[in-house]
Amino acid sequence: MKPRVGILCSGGDAPGMNAALRAIVRMAIYLGYEPVGIYRGYEGLIEGQMVALEAGSVSGIIQRGGTILGAGRSARFLTPEGRAQAYHQLQKAGIDSLIVIGGDGTFRGAHTFLQEYPDIQILGLPGTIDNDLRGTDLTIGFDTAVNIAVEAIDRLRDTAAAMGRLFLVEVMGRDAGFIALHTAVASGAEAVLVPETPTDFDAIVRTLERGWQRHKSSAIIVVAEGDEVGGALQAAQELQKRFPYYEIRATVLGHIQRGGSPTATDRILATKLGAAAMERLREGASGAMVGLLGNEIVLTPFAQAVKSHAPLNSLLLRLIEILSL
Ligand code: F6P
Repeated sequence: MKPRVGILCSGGDAPGMNAALRAIVRMAIYLGYEPVGIYRGYEGLIEGQMVALEAGSVSGIIQRGGTILGAGRSARFLTPEGRAQAYHQLQKAGIDSLIVIGGDGTFRGAHTFLQEYPDIQILGLPGTIDNDLRGTDLTIGFDTAVNIAVEAIDRLRDTAAAMGRLFLVEVMGRDAGFIALHTAVASGAEAVLVPETPTDFDAIVRTLERGWQRHKSSAIIVVAEGDEVGGALQAAQELQKRFPYYEIRATVLGHIQRGGSPTATDRILATKLGAAAMERLREGASGAMVGLLGNEIVLTPFAQAVKSHAPLNSLLLRLIEILSL
């Protein structure tokens, strides 16, 4: 009998998850496994919602956003009873290995599950737009999210310049400012507000005054949703007090950043990581996230991958300030 590998997407969906599924399923078949798709993350696992996958099951999905298996967060998997039920479902289906695609919550869940049921073999793929995991340069979905935000800001810049306005644009990132920082650099923003650094309104006011004096036609400030000021609307209110004469608008991009076709960068990353995960699984690896550091496939234990994320690139932070002249 062929070994069966279960595959699930968990947490918030990320563009490129489908590309990862395609690579895992086809590499699994190539290596002599029977791939089984598990619907709606750990919740579907607890419920035993599964489907046998063939090469044709993942046809035509590399370019599609979202995930054909569905994703989601499971409160029940946080309980010992929920995990016991999940283990029971795996045994019933004859699955002894899993590949989980998701972010920090997904890997914390996998780590606990493995401590209780070490006979299961689990590898993870970094699938989150937030890019907030250790052990990989990029997470699947981050590049697409940044590109969507940059395209939106290019549009906002047109209307901001036509009307002489300041726009505050809120991007995703509850705990991490990677999307905000990269979006700000790529869209030539005047400032960026991120959870990793305290927000200095006096410095922002100085930047805006400098621009005002040299008759800059517009200004853009990118705000990470997790910044301590509370978001773009709150930051706009704060700045309006200091600039009563400036027309200020706030835009929240929200879940738009998670949808649509993944970029080529995300598709390639998902393909490399998906295929590598299957190969490493066959070699016996378990308990780790499969990431890409430089050109190297690297396995990072779940507990380490979810430790507080890497610092933001300080050069990029500095450049935003200097280049906003
Ligand atoms: O973790 C991915 C992410 O998109 C975060 O950037 C964001 O804070 C959160 O998920 C939103 O979660 P939900 O889709 O449950 O609203």
